Amino acid sequence: MTPRRASSFQRWLLAALPFLTLGQAHVNSTPSHLPSCANLKIPTSSGDGFRIISTKIAEVYNYTSVAGFDFCNISVTLTHPGANDVVYTELWLPLTKQKWNGRFVATGGGGLVAGFEYSLPPFVQQGYASAYTDAGVTLNNTIDPSTGAWAITSPGHLNHALIENFAYRSIHDMTVLSKAAIRAFYGCAPVYSYYSGCSTGGRMGYFAAQHYPNDFDGILANSPAINTPQVSPADFWPSVVMANTVAPPQCIFDTYLEAITAFCDGVDGVVDGLVSEPALCHFNTSNLVGQTVNCSSPATQILITAQHAEVIAKTLQGATSTTGEFLWYGLAPGAPFTGLANTVYTNGSVVPVPFSAAQNWIAYFVDQNPNADTATLTFDGFDTAFSRSVELFTGVLGTDNPNLTAYKHKGGKLLTFHGLADPLITHWGTTRYHERLQHSMGGAAAVNEFYRLFLAPGVGHCGGGTGPNPADAWGALTNWVEHGIVPETLFANTTTVTRDLCPYPAKLQYNGKGYVNRASSFTCVPSDGSGY
Ligand SMILES: *[C@@H]1O[C@H](CO)[C@@H](O)[C@H](O)[C@H]1NC(C)=O
Ligand SMILES: *[C@@H]1O[C@H](CO)[C@@H](O)[C@H](O)[C@H]1NC(C)=O
Ligand SMILES: *[C@@H]1O[C@H](CO)[C@@H](O)[C@H](O)[C@H]1NC(C)=O
Ligand SMILES: *[C@@H]1O[C@H](CO)[C@@H](O)[C@H](O)[C@H]1NC(C)=O
Ligand SMILES: *[C@@H]1O[C@H](CO)[C@@H](O)[C@H](O)[C@H]1NC(C)=O
Ligand SMILES: *[C@@H]1O[C@H](CO)[C@@H](O)[C@H](O)[C@H]1NC(C)=O
Ligand SMILES: *[C@@H]1O[C@H](CO)[C@@H](O)[C@H](O)[C@H]1NC(C)=O
Ligand SMILES: *[C@@H]1O[C@H](CO)[C@@H](O)[C@H](O)[C@H]1NC(C)=O
Repeated sequence: MTPRRASSFQRWLLAALPFLTLGQAHVNSTPSHLPSCANLKIPTSSGDGFRIISTKIAEVYNYTSVAGFDFCNISVTLTHPGANDVVYTELWLPLTKQKWNGRFVATGGGGLVAGFEYSLPPFVQQGYASAYTDAGVTLNNTIDPSTGAWAITSPGHLNHALIENFAYRSIHDMTVLSKAAIRAFYGCAPVYSYYSGCSTGGRMGYFAAQHYPNDFDGILANSPAINTPQVSPADFWPSVVMANTVAPPQCIFDTYLEAITAFCDGVDGVVDGLVSEPALCHFNTSNLVGQTVNCSSPATQILITAQHAEVIAKTLQGATSTTGEFLWYGLAPGAPFTGLANTVYTNGSVVPVPFSAAQNWIAYFVDQNPNADTATLTFDGFDTAFSRSVELFTGVLGTDNPNLTAYKHKGGKLLTFHGLADPLITHWGTTRYHERLQHSMGGAAAVNEFYRLFLAPGVGHCGGGTGPNPADAWGALTNWVEHGIVPETLFANTTTVTRDLCPYPAKLQYNGKGYVNRASSFTCVPSDGSGY
């Protein structure tokens, strides 16, 4: 029974979430015809490093968010002695052994959130046991964790315990707990254990590969926020640039995106509407200065100025220090500006709309002040904030240890796709990590034996965008783990375009004659990765 397309389903769920009413469940606590989950005792050991505060178990029937299915809903709150934390973990187990496919999937979070209940249904519906955790960052369900308010105990004081939970501890604890519950319920350990996550969830997957090599046999970790200490402040850079120069209306960004995409499209040798080698494309933003743009908000014609061009240039260039030194990568040419350089026309003026996770990072993790005035951050202030972020959080949240030897040796597989048009987390942090691994682990071929990175032209953050999206990254990972089928390429599509994406650092090369929308017109050729 090969599980199919869970990752695209997850993406669909994410996209559709605001419009969906999640499944309704019928809860019945005393069934006679099924093995009792209600009385399940989860054995834990003092060596686990946590103590269970309470456990709640209920059988759920015909849960219909995806298709009607039954499961045992196990929720556990636990604490780490001395940490004063309350960590919530929820595990769903298919109700019968026949319905269980013998596998476990741990799921991760996004932004400043550690995990989501809505990650579970697509897996459990297919027979997986699956879990998520809040890592304690909802403060026992009293705050919206995406605010980042959990990062401090009081102004000026970081909540180190919760930062550790969020960084790595809670995914591991959840896995230990879930495996114990699975053994207690089904009478055997999972045959395969997996991890699935994107963005912050992607980072959590990399952390597991680096530090808990025995937790998972396969890890799907897309658009990963490795280098969070750099990425988080760098994601605030365009807002700082605009606050200190000018905030262009969206129509200016749209005009630039179109011009940049057209200019960069053919750089890889084929005009196919996709920017496939962003690193080779250098668009001079001055070229559009003097052009008039018809805007809708405000509804008027606007002349592109040198200042507008400078905002775009700095957004593409990425964060720099006040003396012009590289701090972190900017947006890839061809990626939408709406994520990090969003603006809105309101009350007669155009104002920046910062990426909320980045703004919350600056306020709570860096300034450690709920009243931080992030909107008035100067270039000097940004410089200081960036250094502080790197200094305070690289140890705990850096997630870029270039040594996956233990994971490789135990036979683990790591699969990642990262969109080349990711508007929130640039793919350059991921390729940099891959390069460092190549250095420390014996070259690209040695790394590709167990870790494959697929860069996807035109694809956004965790999917979406205009480019062909990986259709079944989950299937590719599980086939690799369970059947040794090496993902030589990763199939990706839109309704009209297909591509067989190449494992980094190989790149797609057009055969010079085929239909450009078709995958078969391209082959993967060796490269040094410099085009990406
Ligand atoms: C499951 O729920 C759906 C939708 O509420 C309903 O149509 C269906 O009859 C239910 N199936 C069972 C077996 O209860
Ligand atoms: C699982 O149990 C928890 C704790 O009782 C509850 O909050 C949650 O809504 C339940 N989930 C489902 C799908 O029933
Ligand atoms: C967490 O919140 C619940 C519900 O409000 C409460 O009953 C429980 O005592 C709290 N747990 C801790 C450890 O504070
Ligand atoms: C970009 O174009 C401007 C105006 O044509 C020119 O002055 C400048 O030198 C160009 N910059 C680069 C890096 O080529
Ligand atoms: C902008 O609007 C003007 C006046 O309505 C029109 O003449 C012009 O063609 C428009 N330009 C573009 C690029 O749509
Ligand atoms: C717009 O102006 C009104 C009145 O001065 C003010 O109350 C409101 O907060 C402003 N809106 C924004 C988004 O700044
Ligand atoms: C890499 O990790 C392995 C296994 O954990 C360890 O034995 C080895 O010393 C590490 N290599 C380096 C260079 O740190
Ligand atoms: C992509 O291909 C898969 C597998 O062939 C198919 O199920 C899916 O519908 C396709 N997606 C799109 C957007 O056409």
